[in-house]
Amino acid sequence: MTTATAQPPPVVAMLNRKGGVGKSSCCQHLGGAFARSGKRVLLVDMDPQSSLTQGFFGPQATEAMARHETLVALFDDACDPDPERVIRPTPFDGLFIAPGSNDLDSFNVPDPQETGEYQNALRTFLKEAKGRFDIVFIDCPPNLHLASWNALLAADAVVIPLQGEDYGAQGITHVQRAIDLALTRANPDLRLAGYLLTMVQKRLGVHLAYEQQLRQLYGDDVFAGMVPLAKDFKEAVAARAPLSHYKPRCAAAKVMAAIADELAARLDRLRAEKPRFLYLGNRAGVGPEADELRRAS
Ligand SMILES: Nc1ncnc2c1ncn2[C@@H]1O[C@H](COP(=O)(O)OP(=O)(O)OP(=O)(O)O)[C@@H](O)[C@H]1O
Ligand SMILES: [Mg+2]
Repeated sequence: MTTATAQPPPVVAMLNRKGGVGKSSCCQHLGGAFARSGKRVLLVDMDPQSSLTQGFFGPQATEAMARHETLVALFDDACDPDPERVIRPTPFDGLFIAPGSNDLDSFNVPDPQETGEYQNALRTFLKEAKGRFDIVFIDCPPNLHLASWNALLAADAVVIPLQGEDYGAQGITHVQRAIDLALTRANPDLRLAGYLLTMVQKRLGVHLAYEQQLRQLYGDDVFAGMVPLAKDFKEAVAARAPLSHYKPRCAAAKVMAAIADELAARLDRLRAEKPRFLYLGNRAGVGPEADELRRAS
């Protein structure tokens, strides 16, 4: 697995407006795969549901964390967003987390572009702190409010996890538009790392058909690797461990290690590529959203 050492570490946002597609799961298990290969990994839990944090510490310990020890510190004026206090080790070598909190809910407001400096809270927080890591993953909630917008402004690349189901229900275009908006407004270096199919059952005709359609539409933007549906993932989370550490030899752990390798290669490649519009690029820029984006650019 290669991530360039002289370069700043890649910051990867795991984002989809749809819930339950495997965003947190991908952060935990891909993060684990990178850590197991000797990388220093930071997981940033921007979701008020805090599933990723709970996946390491359980619900009670997560709830007991003080506000200044969680990402609430980025938005609460009464707290100092000090990386030394917010970033904590997990029980796994090389794997660190900036914990989420239910209290993030009250800060995760819609229309994030209207929130002034709060938009840049995560970017500012990570500016220095990320230098201690080889890769950073940001887990996002299933909406495009302030927490996800912070992720888009702090990230270098976005992975969009998707389930192989109804194309229209996946909310891809909403995410594409949000990425285009981040590109034009505040993060001109943002790039798409790829669409990642999750919970795939290869024997299901509907999954196969969806995969073909996605590859036809988005070509190389779709990860070659696909996350299989496997009970091992649920068992690992119940044991509060990434699959890479819970059951490193199982088939699903090997697939995740291969996807981590593919992601590392994609991130290396992206550095040499120009950022590009996703929604505007795919739709030839028609419709009111396109007009709005053009006005903003
Ligand atoms: N590959 C998989 N195989 C089996 N179960 C999975 C897999 N990936 C995720 N799950 C399970 O599916 C559920 C949803 O996954 P996860 O929490 O990662 O989704 P999410 O996109 O983060 O959800 P949310 O939008 O609520 O944050 C969880 O119970 C998780 O354990
Ligand atoms: Mg989640």
